[in-house]
Amino acid sequence: MKKLPLVAAILFLFVAISGLSLGGTSNSLMDISASGSQLVCTNRDSGTLSIVDLEKGELVQEIKVGRHPEGVTYIGDTNLVVVAVYADDLLTVVDTASGKVVRTIDVADEPYGVIDAGDGKHVYATLEFPGQLVRVDITTGKVTDTWDVGQFPRGLAKSSTGQIYISEYLTGALKQFEIATGQLTNVDASTGDVFPGWQGTAEDSLARQVTLHPVSNKAYLAHQRSRVTVAHGSGSIFPYVSAVNTKPGTDPEAKRRRRVQMDSFRGTYVVANPWETAISPDGQSLYVIFGGTDDMFVCNVLDDDYRELEYKGGLRVGSNPRAVRVSPDGATFYVYNALDFNVVGYNAKSLQSVMDVKVTSWPYSDEVLLGKKLFYTANPPMTSRRWISCSSCHPDSDADGRTWQQPEGLRNTQPMLGLKHTHPIHWSADRDEVQDFEITIRSALMQGRGLINGRVNDGLADPNGGRSEALDALAAYTNSHGFTQSPFAKQGLSESAERGKALFFSKETQCATCHSGAYFTDQKMHDVGTAATDPTEKLGPEFDTPTVLAVYRSGPYLHHGQAKTLREVLVEFNKEDKHGKTTHLTNQQLDDLVEYLKALPIDDMPSEVENE
Ligand code: HEC
Ligand code: HEC
Repeated sequence: MKKLPLVAAILFLFVAISGLSLGGTSNSLMDISASGSQLVCTNRDSGTLSIVDLEKGELVQEIKVGRHPEGVTYIGDTNLVVVAVYADDLLTVVDTASGKVVRTIDVADEPYGVIDAGDGKHVYATLEFPGQLVRVDITTGKVTDTWDVGQFPRGLAKSSTGQIYISEYLTGALKQFEIATGQLTNVDASTGDVFPGWQGTAEDSLARQVTLHPVSNKAYLAHQRSRVTVAHGSGSIFPYVSAVNTKPGTDPEAKRRRRVQMDSFRGTYVVANPWETAISPDGQSLYVIFGGTDDMFVCNVLDDDYRELEYKGGLRVGSNPRAVRVSPDGATFYVYNALDFNVVGYNAKSLQSVMDVKVTSWPYSDEVLLGKKLFYTANPPMTSRRWISCSSCHPDSDADGRTWQQPEGLRNTQPMLGLKHTHPIHWSADRDEVQDFEITIRSALMQGRGLINGRVNDGLADPNGGRSEALDALAAYTNSHGFTQSPFAKQGLSESAERGKALFFSKETQCATCHSGAYFTDQKMHDVGTAATDPTEKLGPEFDTPTVLAVYRSGPYLHHGQAKTLREVLVEFNKEDKHGKTTHLTNQQLDDLVEYLKALPIDDMPSEVENE
């Protein structure tokens, strides 16, 4: 064992005696009480919070909290926990002793990470959209402070010295802030230095969580790298843990970010979709889980500003692991398997399982469950080499915010919301059923054996549906997503949006001739003059009319992803009035039209709603 420096040893002793983690707190969908006797986890599909008695190894209670709960945190050493209910835009306070919801607190939209502020009264939460950090007083139910912190913040951690760390989901950037005199700043109050943040590369993506080392200044981010210029499995998606040296000081060399590539970490053993990390209280072991291949790595923390991590052990866990937490004494760690609906405890020394508790059950059909498992797994028969899964680019049915260079041209990833009612499929409508994704499974991208026995039919020829139960299940899951109300419609349409609505449905602009019906698409192909700016385009100039529901958060836009904003779609990319008529509109009218687009959908749109 490496000898700890004196300061570290003293800190370690303090940690051991007090049972407190000096690393502060970090976001997860699972948390363990200060005493180590109880665990809570949120269940995204069932919409519940589960409470587990760790001494008895039993589920105590499962409580309904709302749609798609994500982060959860205990408040100090109390029985209270706070849950971020992502799709209902709520922070929900639950008393785990009584199993009762104490209070629900409205936030703007999409709360993801939530952590204890440490004063017994407040929590911090990231709002993925609109990109904010909020501080909330849980005793009064009031949002006391709101700060804009970037795009799609998810990961959230607070060090014992008061710094706040936030990871941007789609860019993989790590940001550092300090709360000085109630204000969030990115300036160090003691030195006046700006915390620059750590961008990573343009290819880093899907950073959901941040873990802080208990003693040193390291922060760890599990994320992937999406190489959008390569359309084959061995080169497009890579799994990483980035170790960031956050030590204050102006020496740029001291502000390092190192990416540790996880699929060459244990020889040539391939893993996919790094989801979350956790660190032992002594700071010596880092646990990393992989949602795509159902693996876990235990790493020795070297903290050497060079190699950073070293492989120590590994194990296969359950289906789609999404959280890992370590007990306060470091003796046990717990893994949450999202598609086995259980929490499994392991002895940290022997890596043997010591507890297995079913925390919830699947609320939909067996078919949709099978489909979801196939969508999330990078294991055969979906791939041959475990690099990639459908969810690597379509996490939780959302888009990855990226534009891929495909053989046919640039293609922006679309969200899957409302998919069932917006066929045909792909920007070029070259597929007419989700079962045609058998072609993707067998392509160079995934190199899977596939789900059909025998030849796969072309995307527009004879159906591939009805030829394989598993493939039909994948389609059922992929087609199952509805929309939630736009945050811009919560107070009803603004005056500007009302004027925009009139413009949208006017004969002059013609928007509603193509963007028609409940899903705002005629499900047909049109040339709207958008093909010219991509010299690599092979299939244009016609594209399938996309839905304009939920475009408030799905940029960049158009098939080539070159329009950064909705206004650019209507102005820069429509100079010749081929895409509806917009050149005659005043600035105010353009603003009004954009305001209306942002307010869609005006209400929730469950997937049962038909496109009429
Ligand atoms: C490397 C990233 C990547 C992977 C892996 C991937 N996709 Fe996609 N997906 C995309 C991109 C980019 C598009 C847009 C392509 C287009 O329209 O031509 C897309 C489009 C789609 C669409 C069309 C949505 C619409 O509104 O028309 C569906 C459905 C879909 N993918 C399902 C899947 C399934 C199922 C899998 C797994 C078998 C999968 N994808 C794997 C990147 C990916
Ligand atoms: C002739 C049919 C047609 C008309 C009229 C039309 N659109 Fe479109 N719209 C399309 C097609 C096709 C696309 C996809 C083009 C592409 O990706 O290159 C599209 C794309 C869009 C997008 C981008 C969506 C995304 O997810 O990237 C927005 C926003 C949009 N249209 C809004 C409007 C507005 C506002 C109007 C009225 C001024 C309008 N459209 C008029 C067919 C039409």
